[in-house]
Amino acid sequence: MEKITVNGGRPLMGHISVSGSKNAALPILFASLAARGVSKIKRVPDITDTRVALKLISELGASVLRDGDTVYVDSRRLFFNTPSPLLVSKIRASTYLMGAMLSAFGRCPLMDFGGCNFAARPTDLHLYAFMRLGAEIKDDMIILNNPHPAEICFKKASVGATANALILASGIDGKSVIRGHASEPHITALVDFLRSMGAEITMNEDSLTVIGKELHGGTAEVIGDMIEAGSYLGLGLVTGGQVSVSGCPTEQLSAFCDFLSSVGASVSIESDKISCRLEGEGKFASVTAAPYPAFPTDLQPIAATVLAAASGGIIYDEVFADRFGYLNELSGFGLKSEVHHGYSEIFPSELYPGDAKAPDLRGGMACLICALGARGESRIYSPELLLRGYEDLEKKLRCIGANIKFG
Ligand code: EPZ
Repeated sequence: MEKITVNGGRPLMGHISVSGSKNAALPILFASLAARGVSKIKRVPDITDTRVALKLISELGASVLRDGDTVYVDSRRLFFNTPSPLLVSKIRASTYLMGAMLSAFGRCPLMDFGGCNFAARPTDLHLYAFMRLGAEIKDDMIILNNPHPAEICFKKASVGATANALILASGIDGKSVIRGHASEPHITALVDFLRSMGAEITMNEDSLTVIGKELHGGTAEVIGDMIEAGSYLGLGLVTGGQVSVSGCPTEQLSAFCDFLSSVGASVSIESDKISCRLEGEGKFASVTAAPYPAFPTDLQPIAATVLAAASGGIIYDEVFADRFGYLNELSGFGLKSEVHHGYSEIFPSELYPGDAKAPDLRGGMACLICALGARGESRIYSPELLLRGYEDLEKKLRCIGANIKFG
Protein backbone atom coordinates (compact mmCIF):
# COMPACT_ATOMS: atom_id res chain seq x y z
CA MET A 1 0.00 0.00 0.00
CA GLU A 2 1.45 3.31 -1.09
CA LYS A 3 -0.75 5.90 0.55
CA ILE A 4 -3.99 6.85 2.26
CA THR A 5 -6.03 9.37 0.30
CA VAL A 6 -8.25 11.44 2.56
CA ASN A 7 -11.14 13.68 1.69
CA GLY A 8 -11.35 15.64 4.89
CA GLY A 9 -13.37 18.40 6.43
CA ARG A 10 -16.47 16.57 7.56
CA PRO A 11 -17.24 16.11 11.29
CA LEU A 12 -16.68 12.47 12.24
CA MET A 13 -19.40 10.98 14.43
CA GLY A 14 -19.98 7.56 15.90
CA HIS A 15 -18.62 4.89 18.15
CA ILE A 16 -15.44 2.80 18.07
CA SER A 17 -14.78 -0.24 20.20
CA VAL A 18 -11.00 -0.44 20.59
CA SER A 19 -8.83 -3.50 19.99
CA GLY A 20 -6.42 -5.22 22.33
CA SER A 21 -3.46 -3.07 23.28
CA LYS A 22 -0.35 -3.35 21.09
CA ASN A 23 1.98 -2.48 23.94
CA ALA A 24 0.35 -5.01 26.27
CA ALA A 25 0.14 -7.83 23.71
CA LEU A 26 3.80 -7.63 22.62
CA PRO A 27 5.57 -8.35 25.95
CA ILE A 28 3.02 -11.09 26.68
CA LEU A 29 3.71 -12.81 23.33
CA PHE A 30 7.48 -12.74 23.91
CA ALA A 31 7.10 -13.77 27.57
CA SER A 32 5.33 -16.94 26.44
CA LEU A 33 8.78 -18.19 25.32
CA ALA A 34 9.81 -18.35 28.99
CA ALA A 35 7.28 -21.17 29.61
CA ARG A 36 7.54 -24.87 28.96
CA GLY A 37 3.98 -25.35 27.80
CA VAL A 38 1.16 -23.87 25.80
CA SER A 39 -0.05 -20.33 26.42
CA LYS A 40 -3.44 -19.03 25.35
CA ILE A 41 -3.63 -15.31 24.73
CA LYS A 42 -6.95 -13.72 23.81
CA ARG A 43 -7.68 -10.37 22.16
CA VAL A 44 -4.34 -10.12 20.35
CA PRO A 45 -4.67 -7.27 17.81
CA ASP A 46 -3.89 -8.30 14.23
CA ILE A 47 -1.43 -5.53 13.39
CA THR A 48 2.03 -5.54 11.81
CA ASP A 49 3.85 -5.43 15.14
CA THR A 50 2.13 -8.56 16.50
CA ARG A 51 2.62 -10.38 13.18
CA VAL A 52 6.35 -9.64 13.32
CA ALA A 53 6.47 -10.72 16.98
CA LEU A 54 4.78 -14.02 16.15
CA LYS A 55 7.26 -14.64 13.30
CA LEU A 56 10.16 -13.92 15.63
CA ILE A 57 8.96 -16.37 18.26
CA SER A 58 8.27 -19.00 15.57
CA GLU A 59 11.90 -18.70 14.48
CA LEU A 60 12.85 -19.96 17.93
CA GLY A 61 10.76 -23.12 17.61
CA ALA A 62 7.48 -21.95 19.16
CA SER A 63 4.42 -23.21 17.31
CA VAL A 64 1.97 -20.41 16.91
CA LEU A 65 -1.69 -20.73 16.02
CA ARG A 66 -4.08 -17.82 15.59
CA ASP A 67 -7.79 -18.57 15.91
CA GLY A 68 -9.71 -15.29 15.49
CA ASP A 69 -8.23 -12.94 18.04
CA THR A 70 -6.86 -15.77 20.21
CA VAL A 71 -3.25 -16.84 19.82
CA TYR A 72 -1.86 -20.14 21.13
CA VAL A 73 1.90 -20.34 21.64
CA ASP A 74 3.38 -23.78 22.24
CA SER A 75 6.90 -23.31 23.58
CA ARG A 76 7.70 -26.93 24.49
CA ARG A 77 10.13 -27.49 21.63
CA LEU A 78 12.18 -24.31 21.42
CA PHE A 79 15.63 -24.20 19.85
CA PHE A 80 18.28 -21.50 19.94
CA ASN A 81 18.51 -19.52 16.75
CA THR A 82 19.71 -16.07 15.77
CA PRO A 83 16.55 -14.01 15.10
CA SER A 84 16.33 -12.52 11.58
CA PRO A 85 17.93 -9.09 11.71
CA LEU A 86 15.29 -7.75 9.30
CA LEU A 87 12.41 -8.76 11.60
CA VAL A 88 14.27 -7.55 14.70
CA SER A 89 14.81 -4.17 13.06
CA LYS A 90 11.10 -3.75 12.31
CA ILE A 91 9.76 -3.42 15.86
CA ARG A 92 10.98 -1.98 19.13
CA ALA A 93 9.33 -4.81 21.03
CA SER A 94 12.00 -7.16 19.68
CA THR A 95 13.95 -5.96 22.77
CA TYR A 96 11.72 -8.43 24.64
CA LEU A 97 13.61 -11.19 22.85
CA MET A 98 16.42 -10.49 25.31
CA GLY A 99 14.50 -11.35 28.47
CA ALA A 100 12.66 -14.20 26.77
CA MET A 101 15.75 -15.79 25.14
CA LEU A 102 17.86 -15.45 28.30
CA SER A 103 15.08 -17.22 30.17
CA ALA A 104 14.63 -19.95 27.54
CA PHE A 105 18.24 -20.53 26.40
CA GLY A 106 20.52 -18.64 28.82
CA ARG A 107 21.88 -16.57 25.94
CA CYS A 108 20.82 -13.98 23.42
CA PRO A 109 22.74 -12.14 20.70
CA LEU A 110 23.06 -8.36 20.91
CA MET A 111 20.92 -7.00 18.09
CA ASP A 112 19.93 -3.76 16.35
CA PHE A 113 16.42 -3.26 17.63
CA GLY A 114 13.97 -1.33 15.48
CA GLY A 115 10.81 0.62 16.12
CA CYS A 116 9.74 4.22 15.91
CA ASN A 117 12.76 6.39 15.46
CA PHE A 118 11.57 9.58 17.14
CA ALA A 119 14.31 9.69 19.79
CA ALA A 120 17.40 7.87 21.03
CA ARG A 121 16.20 4.56 22.44
CA PRO A 122 19.02 3.05 24.49
CA THR A 123 19.02 -0.40 26.11
CA ASP A 124 21.38 0.26 29.04
CA LEU A 125 18.61 -0.26 31.61
CA HIS A 126 17.67 -3.63 30.08
CA LEU A 127 21.32 -4.74 30.17
CA TYR A 128 21.73 -3.49 33.75
CA ALA A 129 18.77 -5.66 34.84
CA PHE A 130 20.20 -8.72 33.06
CA MET A 131 23.63 -8.17 34.71
CA ARG A 132 21.98 -7.93 38.13
CA LEU A 133 20.26 -11.27 37.45
CA GLY A 134 23.57 -12.94 36.60
CA ALA A 135 24.24 -12.21 32.92
CA GLU A 136 27.40 -10.91 31.29
CA ILE A 137 28.26 -9.74 27.80
CA LYS A 138 30.84 -11.74 25.85
CA ASP A 139 31.62 -10.70 22.30
CA ASP A 140 28.19 -10.05 20.76
CA MET A 141 26.23 -12.29 23.11
CA ILE A 142 24.48 -11.75 26.45
CA ILE A 143 25.09 -14.89 28.48
CA LEU A 144 23.29 -15.87 31.63
CA ASN A 145 26.09 -17.88 33.27
CA ASN A 146 25.08 -17.39 36.84
CA PRO A 147 21.30 -16.87 37.13
CA HIS A 148 20.30 -15.65 40.57
CA PRO A 149 17.56 -13.48 42.06
CA ALA A 150 18.58 -9.88 42.69
CA GLU A 151 17.57 -6.40 43.70
CA ILE A 152 17.23 -4.22 40.59
CA CYS A 153 17.01 -0.43 41.06
CA PHE A 154 16.27 1.41 37.84
CA LYS A 155 17.42 5.04 37.75
CA LYS A 156 14.63 5.81 35.26
CA ALA A 157 11.20 4.22 34.77
CA SER A 158 11.36 2.22 31.53
CA VAL A 159 8.48 0.12 30.24
CA GLY A 160 10.75 -2.14 28.19
CA ALA A 161 13.42 -2.67 30.86
CA THR A 162 10.79 -3.32 33.55
CA ALA A 163 9.08 -5.90 31.32
CA ASN A 164 12.38 -7.61 30.51
CA ALA A 165 13.40 -7.70 34.19
CA LEU A 166 10.02 -9.24 35.05
CA ILE A 167 10.24 -11.86 32.28
CA LEU A 168 13.74 -13.00 33.27
CA ALA A 169 13.27 -12.80 37.06
CA SER A 170 10.03 -14.81 36.84
CA GLY A 171 11.93 -17.88 35.66
CA ILE A 172 14.80 -17.61 38.17
CA ASP A 173 14.27 -19.44 41.47
CA GLY A 174 14.10 -17.10 44.46
CA LYS A 175 13.04 -13.57 45.32
CA SER A 176 13.94 -10.59 43.15
CA VAL A 177 12.91 -7.02 43.88
CA ILE A 178 12.54 -4.39 41.16
CA ARG A 179 12.53 -0.70 42.14
CA GLY A 180 12.14 2.44 40.03
CA HIS A 181 9.92 0.39 37.71
CA ALA A 182 7.36 1.53 35.14
CA SER A 183 3.70 1.15 36.16
CA GLU A 184 1.91 1.42 32.82
CA PRO A 185 -1.23 -0.73 32.49
CA HIS A 186 0.70 -2.99 30.11
CA ILE A 187 3.17 -3.76 32.92
CA THR A 188 0.27 -4.81 35.14
CA ALA A 189 -1.05 -6.94 32.26
CA LEU A 190 2.34 -8.65 31.88
CA VAL A 191 2.48 -9.28 35.63
CA ASP A 192 -0.93 -10.98 35.45
CA PHE A 193 0.28 -13.17 32.59
CA LEU A 194 3.51 -14.14 34.40
CA ARG A 195 1.43 -14.98 37.47
CA SER A 196 -0.71 -17.28 35.31
CA MET A 197 2.57 -18.97 34.27
CA GLY A 198 3.40 -19.70 37.91
CA ALA A 199 5.50 -16.72 39.07
CA GLU A 200 4.50 -15.06 42.35
CA ILE A 201 4.57 -11.31 41.86
CA THR A 202 3.54 -8.56 44.26
CA MET A 203 3.09 -5.04 42.94
CA ASN A 204 3.66 -2.15 45.33
CA GLU A 205 3.94 1.52 44.50
CA ASP A 206 7.71 1.57 45.00
CA SER A 207 8.66 -2.02 44.10
CA LEU A 208 7.76 -5.23 42.35
CA THR A 209 8.59 -8.42 44.21
CA VAL A 210 9.03 -11.50 42.05
CA ILE A 211 9.32 -15.03 43.38
CA GLY A 212 10.59 -16.89 40.34
CA LYS A 213 9.57 -20.44 39.51
CA GLU A 214 9.78 -22.95 36.68
CA LEU A 215 7.16 -21.46 34.36
CA HIS A 216 4.34 -23.30 32.65
CA GLY A 217 2.04 -22.08 29.86
CA GLY A 218 -0.16 -19.16 30.87
CA THR A 219 -3.36 -17.41 29.87
CA ALA A 220 -4.17 -13.78 29.21
CA GLU A 221 -6.82 -11.57 27.73
CA VAL A 222 -5.05 -8.49 26.43
CA ILE A 223 -6.39 -5.21 27.84
CA GLY A 224 -7.96 -2.62 25.52
CA ASP A 225 -5.68 -0.11 23.82
CA MET A 226 -5.79 3.23 25.64
CA ILE A 227 -3.61 4.90 22.98
CA GLU A 228 -5.95 3.79 20.21
CA ALA A 229 -8.91 5.06 22.28
CA GLY A 230 -7.26 8.45 22.90
CA SER A 231 -6.35 8.75 19.21
CA TYR A 232 -9.98 8.34 18.09
CA LEU A 233 -11.28 10.73 20.76
CA GLY A 234 -8.80 13.34 19.52
CA LEU A 235 -9.78 12.64 15.90
CA GLY A 236 -13.49 13.25 16.59
CA LEU A 237 -12.71 16.52 18.35
CA VAL A 238 -10.35 17.88 15.67
CA THR A 239 -12.90 17.25 12.91
CA GLY A 240 -15.56 19.13 14.89
CA GLY A 241 -17.51 15.92 15.43
CA GLN A 242 -18.01 13.58 18.36
CA VAL A 243 -16.53 10.11 18.59
CA SER A 244 -17.11 7.80 21.53
CA VAL A 245 -14.84 4.89 22.43
CA SER A 246 -15.18 1.82 24.60
CA GLY A 247 -13.25 -1.33 25.33
CA CYS A 248 -10.48 -0.04 27.57
CA PRO A 249 -10.74 0.81 31.27
CA THR A 250 -11.71 4.49 31.46
CA GLU A 251 -9.37 5.20 34.40
CA GLN A 252 -6.40 4.52 32.10
CA LEU A 253 -7.46 7.57 30.10
CA SER A 254 -7.93 9.85 33.13
CA ALA A 255 -4.94 12.06 32.28
CA PHE A 256 -6.03 12.30 28.64
CA CYS A 257 -9.61 13.18 29.63
CA ASP A 258 -8.29 15.83 32.06
CA PHE A 259 -6.31 17.28 29.16
CA LEU A 260 -9.40 17.34 26.91
CA SER A 261 -11.35 19.12 29.67
CA SER A 262 -8.52 21.63 30.09
CA VAL A 263 -8.80 22.64 26.41
CA GLY A 264 -12.52 23.27 26.99
CA ALA A 265 -13.97 20.05 25.58
CA SER A 266 -16.97 18.46 27.25
CA VAL A 267 -16.04 14.92 28.19
CA SER A 268 -18.61 12.36 29.22
CA ILE A 269 -17.83 9.00 30.79
CA GLU A 270 -20.58 6.44 31.18
CA SER A 271 -19.61 2.97 32.33
CA ASP A 272 -16.77 2.00 29.91
CA LYS A 273 -17.72 4.54 27.23
CA ILE A 274 -15.99 7.91 26.82
CA SER A 275 -17.00 10.62 24.40
CA CYS A 276 -15.89 14.20 23.93
CA ARG A 277 -16.78 17.25 21.91
CA LEU A 278 -15.40 20.74 21.59
CA GLU A 279 -17.87 23.58 21.09
CA GLY A 280 -16.42 26.98 20.33
CA GLU A 281 -12.78 27.93 20.43
CA GLY A 282 -11.65 26.15 23.55
CA LYS A 283 -8.94 27.29 25.93
CA PHE A 284 -5.15 27.60 25.86
CA ALA A 285 -3.79 24.60 27.78
CA SER A 286 -0.56 22.88 28.68
CA VAL A 287 0.15 19.20 29.15
CA THR A 288 3.15 17.20 30.36
CA ALA A 289 3.80 13.67 29.10
CA ALA A 290 5.39 11.54 31.83
CA PRO A 291 5.26 7.91 33.05
CA TYR A 292 1.83 6.46 33.95
CA PRO A 293 -0.49 7.55 35.54
CA ALA A 294 0.51 10.89 33.98
CA PHE A 295 -0.34 11.86 30.40
CA PRO A 296 1.09 9.21 28.01
CA THR A 297 3.89 10.25 25.66
CA ASP A 298 2.26 8.17 22.91
CA LEU A 299 -0.71 10.56 22.95
CA GLN A 300 1.29 13.78 22.79
CA PRO A 301 1.25 13.92 18.94
CA ILE A 302 -2.54 13.58 19.19
CA ALA A 303 -2.56 16.35 21.84
CA ALA A 304 -0.78 18.63 19.36
CA THR A 305 -3.64 18.27 16.85
CA VAL A 306 -6.22 18.93 19.60
CA LEU A 307 -4.41 22.07 20.80
CA ALA A 308 -4.14 23.37 17.23
CA ALA A 309 -7.88 22.84 16.72
CA ALA A 310 -8.61 24.68 19.98
CA SER A 311 -6.71 27.70 21.30
CA GLY A 312 -3.14 26.40 21.28
CA GLY A 313 -0.92 25.45 24.18
CA ILE A 314 2.33 23.91 25.31
CA ILE A 315 3.38 20.25 25.33
CA TYR A 316 6.20 19.08 27.59
CA ASP A 317 7.56 15.54 27.21
CA GLU A 318 9.49 14.16 30.18
CA VAL A 319 9.76 10.65 28.67
CA PHE A 320 11.26 11.48 25.27
CA ALA A 321 12.34 15.14 25.51
CA ASP A 322 12.71 15.54 21.74
CA ARG A 323 9.70 13.60 20.51
CA PHE A 324 8.53 16.53 18.38
CA GLY A 325 9.92 15.66 14.93
CA TYR A 326 6.40 14.84 13.72
CA LEU A 327 5.46 18.55 13.98
CA ASN A 328 7.48 19.16 10.86
CA GLU A 329 5.08 16.91 8.89
CA LEU A 330 2.04 18.49 10.55
CA SER A 331 3.17 21.92 9.33
CA GLY A 332 2.28 20.66 5.82
CA PHE A 333 -1.38 20.78 6.96
CA GLY A 334 -1.04 24.29 8.37
CA LEU A 335 -0.42 23.27 11.98
CA LYS A 336 1.75 25.99 13.49
CA SER A 337 4.28 25.13 16.18
CA GLU A 338 7.66 26.00 17.62
CA VAL A 339 9.89 23.25 18.94
CA HIS A 340 12.27 23.61 21.91
CA HIS A 341 14.25 21.01 23.85
CA GLY A 342 11.74 19.26 26.13
CA TYR A 343 8.67 21.16 24.97
CA SER A 344 6.86 22.61 22.01
CA GLU A 345 4.44 25.46 21.55
CA ILE A 346 1.35 24.75 19.48
CA PHE A 347 -0.58 27.68 18.00
CA PRO A 348 -4.26 27.75 17.04
CA SER A 349 -4.25 26.76 13.37
CA GLU A 350 -6.57 26.72 10.40
CA LEU A 351 -5.86 23.30 8.86
CA TYR A 352 -5.62 22.89 5.09
CA PRO A 353 -5.12 19.75 2.97
CA GLY A 354 -1.61 18.56 2.25
CA ASP A 355 0.66 15.62 1.53
CA ALA A 356 2.73 14.06 4.29
CA LYS A 357 4.89 11.05 4.96
CA ALA A 358 3.99 9.33 8.22
CA PRO A 359 7.11 9.94 10.36
CA ASP A 360 6.31 7.16 12.85
CA LEU A 361 3.26 5.38 14.28
CA ARG A 362 1.73 8.11 16.48
CA GLY A 363 3.12 10.97 14.38
CA GLY A 364 1.48 9.24 11.40
CA MET A 365 -1.85 9.16 13.24
CA ALA A 366 -1.47 12.87 13.98
CA CYS A 367 -0.97 13.48 10.21
CA LEU A 368 -4.11 11.48 9.46
CA ILE A 369 -6.08 13.48 12.04
CA CYS A 370 -4.95 16.75 10.43
CA ALA A 371 -5.86 15.41 6.99
CA LEU A 372 -9.33 14.41 8.19
CA GLY A 373 -9.75 17.81 9.87
CA ALA A 374 -8.79 19.80 6.74
CA ARG A 375 -11.36 20.46 4.01
CA GLY A 376 -10.17 18.89 0.74
CA GLU A 377 -7.94 16.07 -0.49
CA SER A 378 -4.79 15.03 1.37
CA ARG A 379 -2.43 12.11 1.04
CA ILE A 380 -0.51 10.25 3.75
CA TYR A 381 2.45 8.25 2.47
CA SER A 382 4.12 5.33 4.31
CA PRO A 383 0.75 4.22 5.73
CA GLU A 384 2.36 0.92 6.78
CA LEU A 385 3.67 2.79 9.83
CA LEU A 386 0.11 3.41 10.98
CA LEU A 387 -0.85 -0.20 10.40
CA ARG A 388 1.83 -1.20 12.91
CA GLY A 389 -0.45 -0.11 15.73
CA TYR A 390 -4.05 0.50 14.64
CA GLU A 391 -6.10 -2.63 13.96
CA ASP A 392 -8.82 -2.36 11.28
CA LEU A 393 -7.94 1.28 10.78
CA GLU A 394 -9.79 1.66 7.48
CA LYS A 395 -12.93 -0.09 8.72
CA LYS A 396 -13.04 1.88 11.96
CA LEU A 397 -12.51 5.22 10.20
CA ARG A 398 -15.23 4.46 7.66
CA CYS A 399 -17.71 3.56 10.38
CA ILE A 400 -17.40 7.07 11.85
CA GLY A 401 -17.93 8.64 8.43
CA ALA A 402 -14.38 9.20 7.14
CA ASN A 403 -13.94 9.50 3.39
CA ILE A 404 -10.66 7.67 2.87
CA LYS A 405 -9.07 5.34 0.36
CA PHE A 406 -6.22 2.96 1.20
CA GLY A 407 -4.07 1.88 -1.72
C1 EPZ B 1 7.48 1.72 25.26
O1 EPZ B 1 8.74 1.90 24.63
C2 EPZ B 1 6.44 1.73 24.16
N1 EPZ B 1 6.74 0.68 23.20
C3 EPZ B 1 6.43 3.10 23.47
O2 EPZ B 1 5.32 3.08 22.57
C4 EPZ B 1 6.23 4.19 24.49
O3 EPZ B 1 6.39 5.44 23.86
C5 EPZ B 1 7.24 4.08 25.64
O4 EPZ B 1 7.20 2.73 26.20
C6 EPZ B 1 6.97 5.04 26.78
O5 EPZ B 1 5.69 4.83 27.32
C7 EPZ B 1 6.37 -0.57 23.45
O6 EPZ B 1 5.76 -0.87 24.47
C8 EPZ B 1 6.68 -1.59 22.42
P1 EPZ B 1 10.81 3.13 27.69
P2 EPZ B 1 10.08 1.60 25.43
O7 EPZ B 1 11.89 2.17 27.89
O8 EPZ B 1 9.83 0.49 26.36
C9 EPZ B 1 14.71 5.74 28.53
C10 EPZ B 1 4.21 3.46 20.55
O9 EPZ B 1 3.99 4.49 19.85
N2 EPZ B 1 15.47 4.49 28.50
O10 EPZ B 1 9.69 3.16 28.68
O11 EPZ B 1 11.15 1.51 24.44
C11 EPZ B 1 14.16 6.12 27.15
O12 EPZ B 1 15.15 6.77 26.38
C12 EPZ B 1 5.54 3.22 21.16
O13 EPZ B 1 3.35 2.60 20.73
C13 EPZ B 1 16.80 4.52 28.83
O14 EPZ B 1 17.37 5.55 29.15
O15 EPZ B 1 10.23 2.97 26.23
C14 EPZ B 1 12.99 7.00 27.53
O16 EPZ B 1 13.48 8.28 27.83
C15 EPZ B 1 6.53 4.25 20.74
N3 EPZ B 1 17.50 3.33 28.81
C16 EPZ B 1 12.48 6.38 28.83
O17 EPZ B 1 13.55 5.56 29.32
C17 EPZ B 1 16.89 2.15 28.50
O18 EPZ B 1 17.58 1.11 28.54
C18 EPZ B 1 11.24 5.51 28.68
O19 EPZ B 1 11.44 4.58 27.61
C19 EPZ B 1 15.53 2.14 28.16
C20 EPZ B 1 14.85 3.33 28.16
